[in-house]
Amino acid sequence: MSTPDLFRDLATQPEPMRLGDGAWLLPRFACDRAEAVLATLADILRQAPLRHMQTPGGCTMTVMMSCCGDRGWHSDPSGYRYTAVDPLSGRRWPPLPPVFAAVAAAAAEAAGYPAFVADTCLINRYVAGAKLSPHQDRDERALCHPIVSLSLGLPARFQFGGPRRRDPLLRTTLAHGDVVVWGGASRLAYHGVLPLDAGHHALTGSFRYNLSFRRAG
Ligand code: SIN
Ligand code: FE2
Repeated sequence: MSTPDLFRDLATQPEPMRLGDGAWLLPRFACDRAEAVLATLADILRQAPLRHMQTPGGCTMTVMMSCCGDRGWHSDPSGYRYTAVDPLSGRRWPPLPPVFAAVAAAAAEAAGYPAFVADTCLINRYVAGAKLSPHQDRDERALCHPIVSLSLGLPARFQFGGPRRRDPLLRTTLAHGDVVVWGGASRLAYHGVLPLDAGHHALTGSFRYNLSFRRAG
């Protein structure tokens, strides 16, 4: 790498931050691909529109969701599960776009998971006040693969704890282009998002998007 490149990288790429054993925040990791990801996302959401899902307890989630990939995550009063077909349209979920798979693989590798191949992406869209209570991602068949979580648009306050609900939650801000990767001993870590503050982002307006890449099958 030439010297000018090295200086540029140091200026724009803060150091990875360890959130737990096998869990890393990669600040701004995907900034340079964010516009390509958002353009592709718009296309996906035309095929599989965002919707408010219901929890098994019958509550309506404040975050709007959709999916792409071989399977999509779905929640309704009968439970959480992955489905091959979008229950809203009766058609298969849109395929996982190459730019999504590439960002997911690169971030996983940077966090120490070199062989990660995502087969699904859960899309979350937050407006002011939307939140996600602390939970585990545990509906995937094999828990040996990490979760790779990309934040786009407005910043959010993210909580990240341990495998037991009572484990302390650390708090960090997730900004546009940040990627969090958790696997190994942290794969079942509880995590959540505090209510989003109102704001405006040049690329996403009043929204925050989170794309979480997983291997579900
Ligand atoms: C999730 O847990 O599915 C989303 C986390 C986030 O929005 O950062
Ligand atoms: Fe999650």
